[in-house]
Amino acid sequence: MKRSDIRVELGDRSYDILIGKDLINNPEVLKQHLTGRVVIVSNTTVAPLYMQTLKQSLQHCQILSYELPDGEAYKSLESFDKLNSFLLENNCGRDITLVALGGGVIGDLVGFVAACYQRGVKFVQIPTTLLAQVDSSVGGKTAVNHPLGKNMIGAFKQPQAVIIDINTLNTLPPREFAAGMAEVLKYGIVFDRQFWNELIIKQAQICALESDLLADVIKRCCQIKAEIVAADETEQGKRALLNLGHTFGHAIEAEMGYGNWLHGEAVATGMVLAAKVAELRGYISEQDYLEVKQTIASYDLPVVKPESMQVDDFIKHMKRDKKVHNSVMRFIIPTKIGHCDILDDVTEAELANVLK
Ligand code: NAD
Ligand code: GLY
Repeated sequence: MKRSDIRVELGDRSYDILIGKDLINNPEVLKQHLTGRVVIVSNTTVAPLYMQTLKQSLQHCQILSYELPDGEAYKSLESFDKLNSFLLENNCGRDITLVALGGGVIGDLVGFVAACYQRGVKFVQIPTTLLAQVDSSVGGKTAVNHPLGKNMIGAFKQPQAVIIDINTLNTLPPREFAAGMAEVLKYGIVFDRQFWNELIIKQAQICALESDLLADVIKRCCQIKAEIVAADETEQGKRALLNLGHTFGHAIEAEMGYGNWLHGEAVATGMVLAAKVAELRGYISEQDYLEVKQTIASYDLPVVKPESMQVDDFIKHMKRDKKVHNSVMRFIIPTKIGHCDILDDVTEAELANVLK
């Protein structure tokens, strides 16, 4: 397989996304992005799988490594504090590069530490979940959760590079793969009808992890994300479109307890609810709504809200959403498959109707 490179154009903070096989065991490739003193941060699930290989390939570097327990619950200020303490105890200066080896939890936490430690150090993303490869490792959103809301404390901090080794997906549990597919499907609904159609037609091969096809799918997602980030790095406008399904989804994640519903699962249900708003407004046909719902379900993702959650439970969390502007809630709603708009006039009555 030929490696694909995509550039995120952000002036002097531009960087490459490398997509291919056998990248974490390729010292020549890694040398171009990692030298000097590096601190590899991973968790107790991913480190036993890939830490040794990565260390072996980084023999030209001075390496320290740090492991967190696994789970969304560790994307916290406590973990942030512990990692900063580890860096200080090991006399790490501003010349270090942090390496995030893991899924979105590790990537978001390490990125936030990189943004803050000694007012900012370099970091490289090595995402190992599908979700992190197609979304969270690209674009510089970093954060930790607060008990009152997800990703509420964070910063924009772009990595030096994103190195996507698709071999790592071979060890990913199927439920996590499906959660990543939610973000993949999102790119189709928001930006690209043709891509959406391919995700329907080639579902069996994608789920069988056919590597060339998977690399193409990841590449298309990263291309879209790179374009959006280059145009609107700090989400003043169109970057918000990447949040299709997230306003509903974040409410589900927070209400059900972080980690009980995976982020991708909550987003999947959120996208179906957003499509329902669109159908009830007459933006999309019932047939398109059903196509969205059935396709998402066919990738083994939930399409119905948790039974225990009532309208007020959603609204309570939605009012804290980062897209709220002057107290007005904003939603990303499809106007057709392949195009979405940002709406600020969705009423609580409409939400109640959709959530019924
Ligand atoms: P995660 O990091 O918790 O990883 C999911 C699970 O898979 C974990 O148990 C992890 O240890 C395991 N795992 C990771 N790689 C593996 C591999 N190759 N083989 C076997 N197991 C592996 O979750 P995620 O879905 O990657 O990320 C979700 C997080 O990303 C959420 O916190 C979400 O808020 C965040 N996110 C951030 C952005 C952003 O733009 N920064 C975008 C989307 C999501
Ligand atoms: N995952 C949404 C964004 O990066 O903007």
